Amino acid sequence: MRKLIVGNWKMNGKPSCLAKPQNFDEIYPSQDRGHLDIVICPPSLLISGMEDICTNANIQIGAQNCHYLDKGAYTGEISVTMLKDFGVKFVILGHSERRAMGETDKEVSLKAIKVVKENLTPIVCVGENLEVRKSGHALKFVSEQIKSSIAGLSKGYVLAYEPIWAIGTGVTASIDDIRKMHINIREIIGPDVKVLYGGSVNKKNATEILQVENVNGVLVGGASLDMIDFALIAKAAG
Ligand code: 13P
Repeated sequence: MRKLIVGNWKMNGKPSCLAKPQNFDEIYPSQDRGHLDIVICPPSLLISGMEDICTNANIQIGAQNCHYLDKGAYTGEISVTMLKDFGVKFVILGHSERRAMGETDKEVSLKAIKVVKENLTPIVCVGENLEVRKSGHALKFVSEQIKSSIAGLSKGYVLAYEPIWAIGTGVTASIDDIRKMHINIREIIGPDVKVLYGGSVNKKNATEILQVENVNGVLVGGASLDMIDFALIAKAAG
């Protein structure tokens, strides 16, 4: 399966960052990475200014969230059709940082269905917190979260396993934990859906993580802000 390397910039970025996809392409030229898909998910304000730069660099643009309706009185929201008009191909959904702000599995599944319907690809995030991990119920928790977050979808999406305790902490899940979780996920979603790992992925640990069975790519937060680091992570995909 083609590996997918996704950078989630979260709430980081300013106009000078619009050139970053071009910098990435200079470090890791597109002719050398025909075997990979690279996606950058900047804050939505930067999306329109990045469209042409990303196209030229053979990098796809993702959004970090969307609404499940097309338009209306939803202050502060952005619809999938709007994202599509600006060249967006992927939408991260159900990130734990959004779930912590109250987003439910039901909302994630409505959004995911809408994104697929518009021929974009949702990257649906799941993952347990430290308490669940310590209780020994991580596999069960994530299984249930997947079932309700992708309810109504059988294909056309990407799943990202991001243990909450590994996000932004510098603590990565062990290779054995990643392997076990990804086998568990594969059993639920079948052979055709890509599964990414996310949580403190960096240029040092990327090679080992990307070699784990059923890891089809990575979802990178902090390290995706530095194009040298992000390119080294992409190169680690082989
Ligand atoms: P870090 O790579 O900064 O841990 O963030 C992971 C993440 O949340 C990506 O969506």
